[in-house]
Amino acid sequence: MIATAVSPSIGVEVQGISAADFSSPGTASTTSELLARHGVVVFRQAHVSDTDLVSFSRMLGDVVVAPMGGLPDHPEISPVTLDPSKSELAGLRRSTIFWHIDGVTDDIPQKATLLTAREVVDGEGDTEFANTYAAYDALPNSKKSELAEYRVVHSFAAAQRLTHPDATEKQKDAWNRLPAREHPLVWKHRDGRRSLLIGATAGHVVGMSPEDGRALLDSVLEWATQPQFVLRHRWQVGDLVIWDNTSLLHRALPYEPTSRRLMHRTTLVGDEAVA
Ligand code: OGA
Ligand code: MN
Repeated sequence: MIATAVSPSIGVEVQGISAADFSSPGTASTTSELLARHGVVVFRQAHVSDTDLVSFSRMLGDVVVAPMGGLPDHPEISPVTLDPSKSELAGLRRSTIFWHIDGVTDDIPQKATLLTAREVVDGEGDTEFANTYAAYDALPNSKKSELAEYRVVHSFAAAQRLTHPDATEKQKDAWNRLPAREHPLVWKHRDGRRSLLIGATAGHVVGMSPEDGRALLDSVLEWATQPQFVLRHRWQVGDLVIWDNTSLLHRALPYEPTSRRLMHRTTLVGDEAVA
């Protein structure tokens, strides 16, 4: 296995892996190390089967089984598509085009996400990743101390508002039924590193006016998603990309709801509470 860093701040590409290697615990332990060091691990044209995707995910951690939307044969796998005929969650996926962190409204944010391309449309729906460890580290010290003071309320509603600015009261009530979650803006990890909890779910800053909070959140997001912290992945069928969801923001670049683009996704349960 050969691993090549994509840039100093984010991403590593692994070559020399065949589909059979995904059943090996050695591949899983190497992947975990690469994930911790680089944030995103790219296996081009891995062509991993659904069964192997689930078993490989299990070697990396506990796998989330979503209450709805999983594949009939593999409830651990969520199809990611904007086509409502392929997934009952297609409508909600429209907000994936905004920078976000998966599961950040949970008590413990999810640890990592694995996404493999089953169908792609050339030039549409690339995925971008931004490493917030690197973005935090590059801040001036005064800004680091300032940001350490803030707490942010994350909600499903805040993310949905971006996609549906004209939502009805009934839609808003439905979104608001899901609990919001308050987190520090800066997550101090147990290994001493710091990441930023921002993105589409970040609705407001505790103790700030909505306008000031919005301006602050927007400016931190803009900082964190500068090109030097970002990896853009152009998909080919069979690619498998894994990211550390505790330190990265990600988003899909826009694609049509009628697009054939179809990803199979598994998600790892978080193992570190936000502190
Ligand atoms: C997701 C997600 C990005 C993509 O499934 O959580 O953000 O490119 N997907 O489909
Ligand atoms: Mn996501």
